[in-house]
Amino acid sequence: MAESSQKPHAIMFALPLQGHITPTVNLAMKLASKGCTITFVHTEFIHQMLSKSSEVDLFSEAHELGLDIRYKTIFDGFPVEFDRFLHFIEYWETMLRDFPARVDEFVGKLIESESSSAYFLITDTFYTWPAIIARKYNLVNVSFWTEPALVFSIDYHLDLLRENGHFPCKDNVEENINYIPGVSSMNTRDLMPYLKESSITTLVQKIVLKTFDDQVKKADFILLNTVQELESETISALNQEQQNYAIGPINFSTDSTKPAISQNLWPPTDTKTWLDTKPPSSVLYVSFGSFVQTSKEIIQEIAHGLLLSKLSFIWVVRKDIVSSNDTDVLPDGFEDKIRDQGLIVQWCNQNMVLSHPAIGGFLTHCGWNSILESIWCGVPMICYPLLGDQLTNRKLVVDDWKIGINLCNGESVTREEVAEKIGINHSNGESVTREEVAEKIHNLMSGTVSDGLRMEIKKVRTILQNALA
Ligand code: UDX
Repeated sequence: MAESSQKPHAIMFALPLQGHITPTVNLAMKLASKGCTITFVHTEFIHQMLSKSSEVDLFSEAHELGLDIRYKTIFDGFPVEFDRFLHFIEYWETMLRDFPARVDEFVGKLIESESSSAYFLITDTFYTWPAIIARKYNLVNVSFWTEPALVFSIDYHLDLLRENGHFPCKDNVEENINYIPGVSSMNTRDLMPYLKESSITTLVQKIVLKTFDDQVKKADFILLNTVQELESETISALNQEQQNYAIGPINFSTDSTKPAISQNLWPPTDTKTWLDTKPPSSVLYVSFGSFVQTSKEIIQEIAHGLLLSKLSFIWVVRKDIVSSNDTDVLPDGFEDKIRDQGLIVQWCNQNMVLSHPAIGGFLTHCGWNSILESIWCGVPMICYPLLGDQLTNRKLVVDDWKIGINLCNGESVTREEVAEKIGINHSNGESVTREEVAEKIHNLMSGTVSDGLRMEIKKVRTILQNALA
């Protein structure tokens, strides 16, 4: 006890979404392996989901390695049966209103019980309350950003966007943005959709405004899940304004004694047995992450495109992949038609899939974790961004790093209408045809375009590996 109270002690809160849990858990592992004491907090609901989908105790690897991670849970105000994904708006509106008081009480009790040994508060940047809690308990306030520095920098400079008439940004207007420090000239079409006029009242915009107009600037420093060499100008320019550290890629480890870990909200299906039967680089992996939704029409075009391509694929089709209540989203008889060409799962261990030698390409929604994981495994991408940072992340992958191609050509684009009940007023996927899908898959998997992408991704992969070495 005496020894642990002298170690730096951080209280960490992950945002209760898969794409945020994974990097935050891995950050906790890395800090603990450097000798920090960590109190790691999940909501009780997330705890239940993680426990159901895993046979081992959360943080068991940490404890086997003797790392000092003290795992706790906090009540988020809703019964466990309440579907937080279906009732997204209600859930997050209540979180915005009531969660800070719960955190306050939690941190107060923790500090009292542990003789004020806590020193840092590390929270996801999307939380709207850390500054006040950190000040009250005299904690160093560390904001953890799980997305690229480019997206952070755009959000950080909302005032500049406002001055230039780009926040809120008119929908369907294409203008140049060349005034954000450290950000090379970009087009307004690559802005995150929550900065667009049509998103003016959405929850995500409300959260971003609350965090970036107020909270973030009160943080003592920022941790970014990116790599200095990948986004050096953006990171250096940000450092002129607020202290930050690029600590990525956080989800991986080169040291088997300090493994990177996955905490899955859903139980993964075995894919290895099927993949083991396939030749090297012959299978396309398709996944749109843990959260975003699109329309049934798009899912069906993608399904037909996969069939047309005749190439092997693994496709993660989550139960809630479309915004309607329709759970029967694939074309009639699809699973019979694909036979051994494809494997459909509801959830898999993505890192295991991407690192399997049979995988040759990834059709992705451009979630930041998926991009980093694909780079880590040297797998080039077809980009089909759906919302939030994904549209901006696409620019990095396709335009800047040249390690992926667009699924849509960006011509004759009709944006799918927004699923209002989800409350994220977003462009949930450009329209796409099956022929386009099949053509892009072929370009990605073999031929000169593919060779070029593979050459470039090797270089970017080395940058990631060096960052961890
Ligand atoms: C969300 C946002 O959408 C994303 O843009 C942001 O960068 C982080 O938060 P999500 O949409 O879930 O995340 O995408 P992503 O960032 O790619 O994270 C998904 C995670 O789930 C990845 O770590 C991926 O490995 C994992 N995953 C996904 C699985 O383990 N199995 C699956 O079947 C699908």
